[in-house]
Amino acid sequence: MSTTSEMVSANNQGYSYQAMLVASQKVNWRIEDIIGGDKRLDFSKPFMPESLARVGLLDFLSADEKRTLNQIRGNAYLCIFGLIEEFILPFVLDHARQQLQGDDYRVRALLNFAGEEAKHIQLFKRFREEFENGFTTNCAVIGPPEAIAQAVLAHDPLAVALVILHIEWMTQQHYLGSVKNDQELDPQFKSLLKHHWMEEAQHARLDVLMVEALAEGRSQQGVEKAVEEYIEIGGFLDSGLKAQMQFDLEAFERATNRTLNVSEREQFIAVQTQANRWTYLGSGMTHPSFKATLQSLSPEAGKRVEQIAPMFC
Ligand SMILES: [Fe+2]
Ligand SMILES: [Fe+2]
Repeated sequence: MSTTSEMVSANNQGYSYQAMLVASQKVNWRIEDIIGGDKRLDFSKPFMPESLARVGLLDFLSADEKRTLNQIRGNAYLCIFGLIEEFILPFVLDHARQQLQGDDYRVRALLNFAGEEAKHIQLFKRFREEFENGFTTNCAVIGPPEAIAQAVLAHDPLAVALVILHIEWMTQQHYLGSVKNDQELDPQFKSLLKHHWMEEAQHARLDVLMVEALAEGRSQQGVEKAVEEYIEIGGFLDSGLKAQMQFDLEAFERATNRTLNVSEREQFIAVQTQANRWTYLGSGMTHPSFKATLQSLSPEAGKRVEQIAPMFC
């Protein structure tokens, strides 16, 4: 006889809570193994892959200035992931809290998911400490995380679950699509992205199950309303990214002791706005697995997101 956790619906791409728990236990790592002691950031190397940083397009910058901007974007990545995970953690805990009976593997897999996100929040903070110790200029970041979490969590739970699904697949895209084969990156920063990817691979699949649980029994109209709210949250995050881009510009000018002229500033803003959009929005919205889940919920909603995605690529 099969247990509840082994039963999978037609749409969830064959993922089960039990399999995700087992996979997660196999890859589990400790923060101390990734950063600290002789494991330091190397500021002579870039931190972000060029496909996300897009500093190469700013041809009025010297090689050193490009690396400095790349590292500022790396610090922003640590901060943005830190604050994204601050709303994922309570959301997953609330979701688990509502279904403590019936499937032991579901409870354990979801609590393990929350525990890993708490660890990731701490990991990103540790890397930010390392960054601040080595990068002499102060870099402002958006926040506070609690205010952003509150604004996101005020939405329909299915919309929030879709945002989380988007984020988890986006992390997969970042590592596999641009970090894995990049030999230039600082090894420590690359290790952060790799270890994050290893645990996020299970989260992405658990999110599919969360999305399905939250969509169960909803009318087509109810699903489409949640997808509209997913797009609204995307717009909210997009305005945060624009503010972060301004902070990055100011930090860049301070760090390099250079003031960009009007045309350089315009180019900087245009390129970096789109670079941020691709990093945090486009790369999730266009991920084939995210699109497949959306499509299975509602072909109309799938089309709607597909239409707006090019703006963020
Ligand atoms: Fe994470
Ligand atoms: Fe995650």
